[in-house]
Amino acid sequence: MCGIIGIADRDSVANRLVDGLRRMEYRGYDSAGLCTIHACALVPRRAQGKLANLIAELAQRPALGDIGIAHTRCATHGAPTEDNTHPHATEHVALVHDGIIENFRELGEELRAAGRQFNSETDSEVVAHLISREVEGGASPEDAVRTVLPRLRGAFALAIAFRSHPDMLIGARHGSPLVLGYGEGEMFLGSDALAPLTQQIAYLEEGDWAVVRRDGVQVFDAENAPVEREVTTSGASAAAVEKGNYCHLMQKEIFEQPTVVAQTLDSYLRQADNSIALPQFDFDISKIRRLTIVACGTSYYAGMVAKYWFEQFARVPVDISFASEFRYRDPVLKDGGLALLISQSGETADTLAALPHCKANGQTIAMVVNVPTSSMAREADLLLPTHAGPVIGVASTKAFTSQLAVLAALCAHMAVKKGLMNREEEAEVVAYLLEAPASLNAALDRNEDIAAMAHLIAPAREVLYLGRGPDFPLTLEGALKLKGISYIHAGGYAAGEMKHGPIALIDDKVPVVVLAPSGPLFEKTVSNMEEVRARGGQVVLVSDAEGLAAAGEGCIATIEMPHVHPLIAPLVYAIPVQLLAYHVACVKGTDVDRPRNLAKSVTVE
Ligand code: AGP
Repeated sequence: MCGIIGIADRDSVANRLVDGLRRMEYRGYDSAGLCTIHACALVPRRAQGKLANLIAELAQRPALGDIGIAHTRCATHGAPTEDNTHPHATEHVALVHDGIIENFRELGEELRAAGRQFNSETDSEVVAHLISREVEGGASPEDAVRTVLPRLRGAFALAIAFRSHPDMLIGARHGSPLVLGYGEGEMFLGSDALAPLTQQIAYLEEGDWAVVRRDGVQVFDAENAPVEREVTTSGASAAAVEKGNYCHLMQKEIFEQPTVVAQTLDSYLRQADNSIALPQFDFDISKIRRLTIVACGTSYYAGMVAKYWFEQFARVPVDISFASEFRYRDPVLKDGGLALLISQSGETADTLAALPHCKANGQTIAMVVNVPTSSMAREADLLLPTHAGPVIGVASTKAFTSQLAVLAALCAHMAVKKGLMNREEEAEVVAYLLEAPASLNAALDRNEDIAAMAHLIAPAREVLYLGRGPDFPLTLEGALKLKGISYIHAGGYAAGEMKHGPIALIDDKVPVVVLAPSGPLFEKTVSNMEEVRARGGQVVLVSDAEGLAAAGEGCIATIEMPHVHPLIAPLVYAIPVQLLAYHVACVKGTDVDRPRNLAKSVTVE
């Protein structure tokens, strides 16, 4: 949940360390720091708050040195203060850490009993002291790391600098991602792709550690045996991670959806014969008796939409679980089931941790992942990549619609293989899906209207979202987006559930966003909307021209959507709930791309 980077070069590294942090700020932005080695001394510079504060600090007190490490923090252990800012250093060692050291208390007690003083409340500082103690005892940096790593429990990616060895850095990973970057006479370490510093990268495997010098690297596995890790060319470019002409990365990613959904569908639909083609896999999908969907956050809500589709079209029972609950619930998984894990980053710790239980209980593993080189992607029996491109905005948008595109294709494919969907019906589904990019574009044309109504929502203390069927999970996603970037409390509800309790929340100060595409559930949803209006609820109706003509009167605002087939409505109606949250956050002046207390990929439990 933090971002770490290390550079070993022949020129000064401080500015490029800061550039690297700027590109990883979506991983956490509570504080930032770096440490170089210069004139046989560790040169730490740290600042609380956004990266700009560290840049101001460096302007006052530059950090010289051609080797160094840096960190941008999302606080887990210890408040976002300067003392808790990384790097954590002793006289001999400086260290940055992404993850959580679960046994830091007992290790800390052992170190305090040995007379060591701590300057922070973090779990990470314990590792700095453990390694420093070894070095002070005469151990080489490699031996110190070899001794300490096995003592750590939890998730970590580490980058460590040694005052006595200004020509090397050591990196180590267990749970949290860590990448090596190869340059001409320079080497890099980082939490994710190191564009534009280098395109040549290698992913460290679970338990790996690496000794990084300007002219090369030595990698060791969890058994300390020397290993080689495949060097690949990462497609990531600087432009892809910049916001270009948009005001925010989130806005850019919202407007990228027609393109990335088309790209994603392109790799699953065969337009020549209007059929669905999945990547190669070696199990008989028609034999799948049960589906278990596991995910977190927005990915979970994509899974909830898919549950409706799989039960309706493929007639397969679906269990869906938040990964953080799944891993401790010891769920009953029958043989012959398919476990479908959904994750944009492919590094979310809770979702990753669901894997062993699924494998141990005879499940075939399918993964819908956006980062094809992520830890999760490497574990799949069937890898179903979304092609959303780099996702940098903390609030997930284009990943969600791309996930829905993949899930719809998988569902239809399963229905065909089970003989529940004939060629004509398959061709129909393909045709509806191929309409999605154009419908997403038409929905984006409502941007100005939605921006104009955001001031109606921004002053609210509470906002409710209502929908039925596959649009119910979209109400949860809409509420999550609004909460995540505008800090307004919001709830999504199955419209029919309102009268069983939530309707008590309704008064003339509560905006209620109703998602009601024309279709089999329109009238039911509208009658629930009427119940809300009867109690003074301030309704914003999101529907197509037909729906607005039928029920738009008396709403505080309406958002006209293109008419779409109910199958793709959750994809297309994602746009207005994303734009509404975005524009309300802009009206409130919150930091849309770096919302408080959040980070892009949650690599800790
Ligand atoms: C959504 O805006 C958040 N970024 C968060 O809920 C996210 O969806 C969740 O952390 C899951 O991430 P993943 O898809 O990378 O596993």
